[in-house]
Amino acid sequence: MKLTGREIVLGVTGGIAAYKSAEIVSRLRKLGANVHVIMTKNATQFITPLTMETMSNNPVVVDTFDRPATWEVEHIALAKRAEVFVIAPATANIMAKMVCGIADDMLSTTVLATKAPVLLAPAMNVGMWTAQVTQENAATLKKRGVQFVGPDAGFQACGDIGSGRMSEPVDIVEAICGILCPKLDMEGLRVMVTAGGTRERLDPVRYLGNDSSGKMGFAIAAAAKARGAEVTLVCGHTTAKQPEGIPTVRVESTCDLYDAVTTRAPEMDVIIQAAAPADYRFANPSQQKMKKEAGKPLIFELVENPDIAAAVGAAKKPGQTLVGFAAETENLLDNARRKLDKKNLDMIVANDVSKPGAGFNVDTNIATLITRDGLTDCPLQRKAELAETILDKVMELRKA
Ligand code: PMT
Repeated sequence: MKLTGREIVLGVTGGIAAYKSAEIVSRLRKLGANVHVIMTKNATQFITPLTMETMSNNPVVVDTFDRPATWEVEHIALAKRAEVFVIAPATANIMAKMVCGIADDMLSTTVLATKAPVLLAPAMNVGMWTAQVTQENAATLKKRGVQFVGPDAGFQACGDIGSGRMSEPVDIVEAICGILCPKLDMEGLRVMVTAGGTRERLDPVRYLGNDSSGKMGFAIAAAAKARGAEVTLVCGHTTAKQPEGIPTVRVESTCDLYDAVTTRAPEMDVIIQAAAPADYRFANPSQQKMKKEAGKPLIFELVENPDIAAAVGAAKKPGQTLVGFAAETENLLDNARRKLDKKNLDMIVANDVSKPGAGFNVDTNIATLITRDGLTDCPLQRKAELAETILDKVMELRKA
């Protein structure tokens, strides 16, 4: 198993997401890790130490002063034993304490003492997460080397919608694996990833666009960076949280995307085009907001946009690996194969975007990876997982 014998300390602080910590422990144990849980007193209001003890098969430590003396020694032992120190959920309070070096309970004391890499999975109300002080605390902790997974955006337990939801246990475990077993097989490679949708202006307030959130491209870019690649992101319009620390070029239209990609392509070893560029643009966009003329139909002329993937494919350099996506709603494999050939790609990721759980603006996808040698089916899975499979295939193609 991937984490056999690895020592992980999991801190749990008081937030509604604490119930998900049991799943984190379960997943880590299935991978063979030895998990030690430290809970704040507030965390025990949301999930019991008994649950965490049962899941981890280790004693759970709650507070410095309410346990037998052996735990006093144990808390420093845990700080030393940790190969990675995770706090999930991490409240605004524990982040603030870490920034100031406050050590007033078992968790804050132990995390202060540890020399292990620290990973935080923040979870709080959107207002608390976006508060200036929390953002400054997060920035300070990042500057000191603390790593973050999430928070995600979405519906919150309090009824608000926005950023602050704890990342899913599967993503937190993925981040832990990334810290403990970094796979650096893309070191030295320059990788360009496109993400998001382009927008074609009709007038200053209207555009032609699509539902691409950037999630698929962002997952690929983050995975390639974690594997050691030097990554450049070229993004159209996106709504998903952008991975940090990746140089990014922002574009609006397909023509902008064409310029950004084709000028950088010759320098790249791997180009993965997950963006959804508009195939057409308005022939005569208006500089001023167009006025409605009641009772009259409005007819627009659209002209074809350049095909970026085809242009990159036509200028393909020896040693380059080119990957495209095919977003289809019918004849998935035939249409995708045609695009593989027409655009001179090495691989195309065919996704039927009409299937629930696949395609635009969801965290999962269903895809078939098509190369000239065959097919790999990727059933419903998180985009982060699919990104790893795509990169594994890219590395296989590069070795062939
Ligand atoms: O961003 P998400 O919300 O996560 O959604 C992910 C996704 C659905 C956008 C992604 O999985 C996907 O399928 N991306 C490709 C969308 C698309 O434009 O597909 P296509 O079949 O129309 O184009 C085929 C390929 O040519 C793509 O690699 C595309 O980037 C490229 N293309 C398309 C048109 C154009 N003018 N120039 C291009 O380079």
